[in-house]
Amino acid sequence: MSLLLKTDPLVTSLSLYDIRGAPGVAADISHVNTASTVKGFEKDDIKEALTGAEVVIIPAGVPRKPGMTRDDLFNTNASIVRDLAEACAEYCPKAYIGIISNPVNSTVPIWAEVYKKKGVFDEKRLFGITTLDVVRASRFLGEIKGADPKDVKVTVVGGHSGVTIVPLLSQTSQGKDVDGEAYKALVNRIQFGGDEVVKAKAGTGSATLSMGYAGARFANSLIRALNGESGVVEPTFVKSPLYESEGVEYFASNVELGTEGVKKINPVGELTAQEQELLKACLPDLAKNIKKGVEFVTKA
Ligand code: LMR
Repeated sequence: MSLLLKTDPLVTSLSLYDIRGAPGVAADISHVNTASTVKGFEKDDIKEALTGAEVVIIPAGVPRKPGMTRDDLFNTNASIVRDLAEACAEYCPKAYIGIISNPVNSTVPIWAEVYKKKGVFDEKRLFGITTLDVVRASRFLGEIKGADPKDVKVTVVGGHSGVTIVPLLSQTSQGKDVDGEAYKALVNRIQFGGDEVVKAKAGTGSATLSMGYAGARFANSLIRALNGESGVVEPTFVKSPLYESEGVEYFASNVELGTEGVKKINPVGELTAQEQELLKACLPDLAKNIKKGVEFVTKA
């Protein structure tokens, strides 16, 4: 993701932080001949890494091993995300935050609760990055239809884990007529695409390259919108009114981005009976994941 951001002409200055290794990565990509400057920080240098940041993308934490769900990462990643939220609240409280760290359904609420405690929460500036779900959906549907994925745009709503990932194939011309077993298999592949990578990597991690691509795409869209470009829409997991009455405070749908972050949260649109069933399965799981994240901070 750092390399892709280095090649993004909209990025003016890139600051990499990790507990170790970031200075080496920074030195390496700093030789790429684009205009942005690159600095790497590790260990206790987080203040320097974050000060002045306008957009912060968080991919920190441990990845899944085969057989694990994203929620199985909660015990390790929740505190990593909480600590990073505390640092951002202190050193760059106005920055726009994109969260990749899993379980996203819980880490976004964790971030929000830390910010609320610190009195710096602005729901327009916090995003769970679900871009990889639409990237996968577009690729997988394109593959079935023999279409170029760049022309296949699939709306995916809900959360970023298993059945909370709800693809709305009926809303895209190429997906409308996929039915029966092919429909079930495609939905399952979109929902559990991450598992394919976890399995193939056989214990050494999960998707980092396609996720890096997705994270860099989201960052680029966000920066374009912050710079004043209109009509920038990305799917993202945000504080959302759409299903609040059903106990779901955060929800991913297509969101129009603007100069202040979230500009307009688009509703899910018309759903087929099958899609309504998918949504019905999503909401209770999502509510549980969100509650777990909230309580990790509020009941600590
Ligand atoms: C993904 O969707 O690939 C990521 O969320 C990583 C994972 O654990 O699957």
